[in-house]
Amino acid sequence: MKIKACLFDLDGVLVDTAIYHFKAWKQLANSLGFDFTEEQNEQLKGISRMESLDRILNWGKLQKSDEEKVALATKKNEWYVAMIEQMTPAEVLNGTVDFLTSIKNAGYRIALGSASKNSAIILQRTNLAHFFDAIVDGNLVSKSKPDPEVFLKGAELLGMKAQECLVFEDAIAGIEAANRAGMRSVGIGSPEVLTEATIVVKDLSRLSVAHLHQMDEL
Ligand code: BG6
Ligand code: MG
Repeated sequence: MKIKACLFDLDGVLVDTAIYHFKAWKQLANSLGFDFTEEQNEQLKGISRMESLDRILNWGKLQKSDEEKVALATKKNEWYVAMIEQMTPAEVLNGTVDFLTSIKNAGYRIALGSASKNSAIILQRTNLAHFFDAIVDGNLVSKSKPDPEVFLKGAELLGMKAQECLVFEDAIAGIEAANRAGMRSVGIGSPEVLTEATIVVKDLSRLSVAHLHQMDEL
């Protein structure tokens, strides 16, 4: 079926915010008396803030009450927001602006499908907000990826069928969400990791509207 809409994850697909998440989580873990590695940070890709905190507390073998957890997540987020408030358009990943421009000009509808509750500030700081016809982020969804809710809501807001949507994702949980939504997907990263994606590319600079036409048949 013909692809008419593109649904983009944010962190790791359009911008590289993983380093800021890493710094903020590491600061939190260190303040609690244990360390947090980049390998562990990798495992948090696509995972919501509270679920990330649960995993980190688990790695640090700490138990906290729900109230304490909210306070810890709030602290991490304040550190994270202080960093993303300094972001510039130079931090947009390779090929992103050209690709978004060409698909917009070709008439594709564009939505965001992100777990982040900070998407508005990131899109604004990096000058990407104007590309989007709909924004679905952590403020709008109740179930995190791999649940398909975020992408199904994006399709609904755009007035598209799931089969008309193509998802762009860097996280295994995000590709699983696309598959569960009945959507085709472009994995951004390595084919050894994103084995369930329809196709995988290194970054958006590898893609053009012609590639999307080829994917109509997949
Ligand atoms: C995802 C990131 O996009 O958003 C995760 O890959 C992050 O690492 C999640 O935890 C939630 O982000 P935020 O900005 O709401 O804490
Ligand atoms: Mg991501």
